Amino acid sequence: MGFFDFLTEDIAIDLGTANTLIIHNDKVVVDSPSIVARNRLSGKIIAVGNEAAMMQGKTHENIKTVRPLKDGVIADFEASEQMISMFIKEIPALKKRLFTPSLRMVICIPSGITEVEMRAVKDSAERVNGKEVYLIHEPMAAAIGIGVDIMQPKGNMIVDIGGGTTEIAVIALGGIVCDRSVKVAGDVFTNDIIYYMRTQHNLFVGERTAEKIKIQIGSATEDLETVPEEMNVQGRDLLTGKPKQVEISFREIAKALDKSILRIEDAVMETLSQTPPELAADIYNTGIYLAGGGSMLRGLDKRLSQKTDLPVYIAEDPLRSIVRGTGITLKNIEKFKPILIQ
Ligand SMILES: Nc1ncnc2c1ncn2[C@@H]1O[C@H](COP(=O)(O)OP(=O)(O)O)[C@@H](O)[C@H]1O
Ligand SMILES: [Mg+2]
Repeated sequence: MGFFDFLTEDIAIDLGTANTLIIHNDKVVVDSPSIVARNRLSGKIIAVGNEAAMMQGKTHENIKTVRPLKDGVIADFEASEQMISMFIKEIPALKKRLFTPSLRMVICIPSGITEVEMRAVKDSAERVNGKEVYLIHEPMAAAIGIGVDIMQPKGNMIVDIGGGTTEIAVIALGGIVCDRSVKVAGDVFTNDIIYYMRTQHNLFVGERTAEKIKIQIGSATEDLETVPEEMNVQGRDLLTGKPKQVEISFREIAKALDKSILRIEDAVMETLSQTPPELAADIYNTGIYLAGGGSMLRGLDKRLSQKTDLPVYIAEDPLRSIVRGTGITLKNIEKFKPILIQ
């Protein structure tokens, strides 16, 4: 232990395609959309997180909003580095410090990202004073966050439905036995709704409105126990060009999302079919765990359960289970070192 170790701070980061969360001292200190707003002329970043999200869809030609990790790959390295750095600087306890402390970090990354992208995340972290930087795969962090003992010789299936990707993994003995990452998740659901409104109602709605529809009345099935009320949706009429309002029911949204949900179902079925029999037997008993914001879509758990004939459980607070798992890993770093990517 070095003399200056008291200057080291531990932080856990869930670098998600839709949301970035940071835990410091056991508390979630950052929970913000993974968005940056940049001035096109100077190239300077003018806002990140919520502030940048508010600008989305409302920008003029000199401002551009980017989601650096949109499809589970790093689309914009520079923007993602600046985003990480600005989020770290926002941590209240570090803001007050005279010097930027050196950081020990565990960062959770989408498992679809390449070696080069992993390297880039690590380099970025080191440039913001990361002295010890570890990466962890998302399904692993999700499992730990849900409370699964991943080191056991026992199979568990995790399905993490985020913004850009759905990550499906079977975990046993601290490793991923088989996995699959599909680019169908919350963002695709939102786009399905935009497309549906345009083709069925001649109504042009923006991404923010479509996301609101998804959260307020979105459903994976028409067969729901508690049915959400109809919703009034405003947008632009494609024929007249005038602003207009239509009333939408959850059944329509279930139809709009059906194809995308099918793709997730298929990916889960394929992963199950590749699972070694002993682990499949475990999963028969333990069922499937869902995490990530997309898992909150009404009826998705029920639909997956009917498709697989397995019990399906949604993590408590699914938007935070990944960062919680990353935080637990950080706190017990010696125990979890074998599963981390150095
Ligand atoms: N109640 C909800 N119902 C359906 N989808 C939701 C709900 N809340 C959040 N989402 C969706 O969850 C996604 C974000 O999930 P998250 O796990 O943060 O993703 P990521 O890990 O990729 O950043 C977004 O697409 C968002 O629209
Ligand atoms: Mg995530």
